Amino acid sequence: MLEKSHIKFTGLFSAAALILWMALSSTSSSGCASRSSGDQDKTPRAAGQLYENYCASCHGMYMERFAGEDRQAMFAMPQNEMEEIIREGDYESGMPAFGEVFSEEEIEAVAEHILTDIKEEAGSHEYRPGFPEVVETEALSFRIDTVASGLGIPWGMAWLPNGDMLVTERSGELFRFRDKKFEAMIDGVPRVYANGQGGLLDIKLHPDYEDNGWIYLAYSEPEGNGGNTAIMRARLDGNTLVDKEKIFKAQPNTRSGVHFGCRMAFDENNYLFFSVGERGHPPNAQDLTNHCGKIHRIHDDGRIPDDNPFVDTPDAMPTIWSYGHRNPQGLAFHPETGELWETEHGPKGGDELNIIKKGTNYGWPEITYGINYDGTIITEDTAKAGMEQPVIYWTPSIAPCGMAFADAETYPQWANDIFSGSLSFRYVVRTDLEGNDVEKDEIMLREAGRVRSIETGPDGYLYIGVENPGFVFRLIPADSGI
Ligand code: HEC
Repeated sequence: MLEKSHIKFTGLFSAAALILWMALSSTSSSGCASRSSGDQDKTPRAAGQLYENYCASCHGMYMERFAGEDRQAMFAMPQNEMEEIIREGDYESGMPAFGEVFSEEEIEAVAEHILTDIKEEAGSHEYRPGFPEVVETEALSFRIDTVASGLGIPWGMAWLPNGDMLVTERSGELFRFRDKKFEAMIDGVPRVYANGQGGLLDIKLHPDYEDNGWIYLAYSEPEGNGGNTAIMRARLDGNTLVDKEKIFKAQPNTRSGVHFGCRMAFDENNYLFFSVGERGHPPNAQDLTNHCGKIHRIHDDGRIPDDNPFVDTPDAMPTIWSYGHRNPQGLAFHPETGELWETEHGPKGGDELNIIKKGTNYGWPEITYGINYDGTIITEDTAKAGMEQPVIYWTPSIAPCGMAFADAETYPQWANDIFSGSLSFRYVVRTDLEGNDVEKDEIMLREAGRVRSIETGPDGYLYIGVENPGFVFRLIPADSGI
């Protein structure tokens, strides 16, 4: 009987998703795994439990994923139609069929459960951004184009030469979107240590991707008694990652669930720069014998450049490029000057925007404009000899995550301004630059949601990833006629 349902899943995504789904559901539902559908004499299993075991791995606990852009439309679906989808699946979209696994009674119960209980509970877990048709800001009006939905925490984004968008989910999945539609789940993603702020983090393509096919993934890797930030490169074969090479792993491992970093950026000579947070242990940032609280620089294959600043310093980690950082989660090269800019989370207050220079100490926790979360003082010092000052700092904290420079051709009014996401205030900040000086900050897209990622796509548009429910938006100038 199972054969029949397998035949339905011969599409690339469906096969991969089915395997993943089977793996997930067999670990979370050992009591149900051996049940066969022919057992009509058995009492039906509880709908809530069935949903949790068989559906939540893809759809989330509140049907917040893969339920179309407008969940309300799905909640308005006639029950018999929903039962049909559950029974037969949908080969095209990648929804598996459950007709062989569930009894008719169970199919009915699950559909009813979604249309009543989940529909009711989903309300408080749903956020619908109510953007106006045209968003007017100081220098430019734009429209919001939703390019991906059904996500949780879209941590990083990258684009393949054919235009497909790859999106990392912090929980450890990698998705491919095509023409604004979910296309496939990528197989072979490294196992992640998804505790606290960790998980699958940034994604970048090699600048020469068309020639070498390398994709770089940053993630928190489980190791020993805890884990730490790691970087892997791999190639795509269809929708599977192959040729996997781990090229960096931060030491030491820790059970701490905070401050993993990890944004990546390539410079024009193909050096890979990336950030690792101090893992909740501030002294790490001043201690060159560990990787935490640093910006690092390596060759694209993980080798250590011999002109890195601390290669000759005894016991220092040779990948270190700069130090004294708390938790940097924005990293990008200025399109004109080629300088590396960074944003990092301060404690309570004191989030920083920095220009990253070789061998430089950015001062955390010796100097800071922030204070402890409980209001106590970390240090009276905001400046010290030998420690670099930020370009600007944000108090109160905006919790900056994701950062990109606005493309000068796509947005002449914003040319080379910095766009940062705010996790805590759920908005986007435009930092208006004149050369390396900040003219001012402009807040836009209030209530966009927790902004996790910002990238400039190959089409020149700014892409903004928000959390829970996760979307990716693209900002299209209103006068562009698109
Ligand atoms: C392997 C991942 C996966 C699993 C497991 C899964 N689904 Fe789906 N489901 C999908 C995808 C993908 C779609 C298509 C979404 C789209 O078209 O954007 C979908 C679509 C649906 C839809 C139609 C939504 C709409 O608005 O048209 C329903 C209803 C649904 N699934 C119910 C369920 C139920 C109930 C279960 C558990 C018994 C389940 N799904 C398990 C991936 C999954």
